[in-house]
Amino acid sequence: MKLALACDHAAFELKDMIKEILIAGGNQVDDCGTDNANSVDYPDFAKKVAQRVHDGSADLGILICGTGIGMSIAANKVAGVRAALCHNEFTAQMARAHNDANVLCIGARVIGRDIALAITKRFLQTPFEGGRHGRRVEKIHALEQGA
Ligand code: RB5
Repeated sequence: MKLALACDHAAFELKDMIKEILIAGGNQVDDCGTDNANSVDYPDFAKKVAQRVHDGSADLGILICGTGIGMSIAANKVAGVRAALCHNEFTAQMARAHNDANVLCIGARVIGRDIALAITKRFLQTPFEGGRHGRRVEKIHALEQGA
C-alpha cells in the first residue's frame, strides 16, 4: 500500500514508530514530516498528506498531532478527503467500513503507543463495505460539490 504520513511537533516520535512498523509491513511510506520537536503548524502537514490522497499518489494517509483534532479539521478541507479521528480499534474499523475514510487521524497526547499501533493496523486492514454506506459517502461527496 502507498501511504502518506505526517505529524506536528507533538507527535514526531509516535509518527516515526508508526512509520517503522508500516515499512516493516511492506508498505511504501511517504514521510511528509515533521521530524523533531520544533514547533510547527499542523495545517501545513495536514495539507501535504491530504493532497497526496487527493491526487492519488497515496492510497491512504495518516496524520498525528496532539489531539488529532486540528489535523482532521484541516485535512477535511481538501476535496475528496475523508479524515477520521479515531481513538480505538472499533472507530478505526468503522471509519473504513462505513465511512470509507481515507485519512486516519490520531491524537498522540490522547492515546498510548500500543493502541495507536493497533488503530493503525485495523484502519489499514479494514475494507470499505460499500452498499448503503456507498450511498452515504456519495452524499458527503455531493456536499463538497455544494449540493
Ligand atoms: C500543538 O500544541 C497542538 O495544538 C496540536 O498538536 C493539535 O493538538 C491540534 O489540534
